[in-house]
Amino acid sequence: MKAESQRISRNDAKRRKMYTAAVLQRAPRRLATLVIVAGVLAAAIPSNAAETAGDAKRGAKVFQACIACHSAEPDRHMTGPSLAQLFGRKAGAVKGFLRYSDALLKSEVVWNERTLDDWLASPGKMIPGNDMAFAGIPDQNARRDLIAYLKAVSDGSEAPRGPRMPRLKSAQADDVIKAIRYCGDTYFVTTEAGKIHKIWEFNLRLKTDSTEFGPHPGRPVLVGVGMSSDRAAIVFSAPGEIAKLIKTAC
Ligand code: HEC
Repeated sequence: MKAESQRISRNDAKRRKMYTAAVLQRAPRRLATLVIVAGVLAAAIPSNAAETAGDAKRGAKVFQACIACHSAEPDRHMTGPSLAQLFGRKAGAVKGFLRYSDALLKSEVVWNERTLDDWLASPGKMIPGNDMAFAGIPDQNARRDLIAYLKAVSDGSEAPRGPRMPRLKSAQADDVIKAIRYCGDTYFVTTEAGKIHKIWEFNLRLKTDSTEFGPHPGRPVLVGVGMSSDRAAIVFSAPGEIAKLIKTAC
C-alpha cells in the first residue's frame, strides 16, 4: 500500500515538473503568468494519495479493525451502529440504534469521504466526547481504502461484512437450552440433546438478543461453552424468559 502511494506521489511530482518545464519553454520570460499557471496545475493534480480512489477490496481487510463493534449489514447494530448506507446520511441517524452519545447526535456532521477521513483519523479530535472507544487509523492509505469499502457497501457493489456471529435461530439440540437449575453457586444447564453443563454462576453470562439475529422465543441458546466452561453465555430472545426458565432447586 505504502509503496504504491509513494509511486503515485512520485509520478505526480514528475508530472508537475514536466508541465512546469513545458510552460517554461513556451513563455520563459513571463514569470508572473508562470507562477499563476504553476499554482493552478498544483491544485488540479492530486498532490497526495488521499485524493485518489481507495481500493475497496483492501479496505474490507482494514474493516476487520471495526468488526468488534460494527457490522456493515443493514440493521445489525452492535456496540456501535450498523455501517450500511452511511454515505450522505447525518451522523447519529441510524434507525433503531438507541445508544448514540449526545456529542454525536449534536454534531451536525454528514458522512462523506472527507468527514469519514477526519473521523477515522481521530474520532476524539473530530467529535470530542463521543462514545467510540477507538484511537483512530493514522495511515492515510488504510483510511482511504476503508472509506472506499464503506462506500462500495453503501452502493451495493461490495458485500457487507460483520463479525462471525453464531446463527442462533438455527442452533442444534446440543446448544438449545431446555432447563436451567440453580443450586449453591452453580447453574446446571440442560440442553435439548440431554447434556448437563455445570457452570459456576460467576462464569455464566445471561444475555438477550431480541433482533432477527437472536434465538427463537422460548428457545435460549448456549454459546461459547468451552472445555473449562469459563466463558459460557446463554442468549434469550427476551429478558422475561430468564427468570422463568431458571429454577432454584438443590
Ligand atoms: C470499541 C468499539 C468500536 C470500534 C472498534 C469502532 N467503533 Fe465506530 N462506533 C462505535 C460506537 C459506540 C459508536 C457510536 C458513537 C457515539 O454515539 O458517540 C460508533 C460510531 C461510528 C460511526 C458513526 C455512525 C453514525 O451512525 O453516525 C462511524 C462512521 C463509525 N463508528 C465507523 C467505524 C469504523 C469504520 C471503525 C473501524 C475502523 C470503527 N467505527 C471502530 C464503536 C466502535
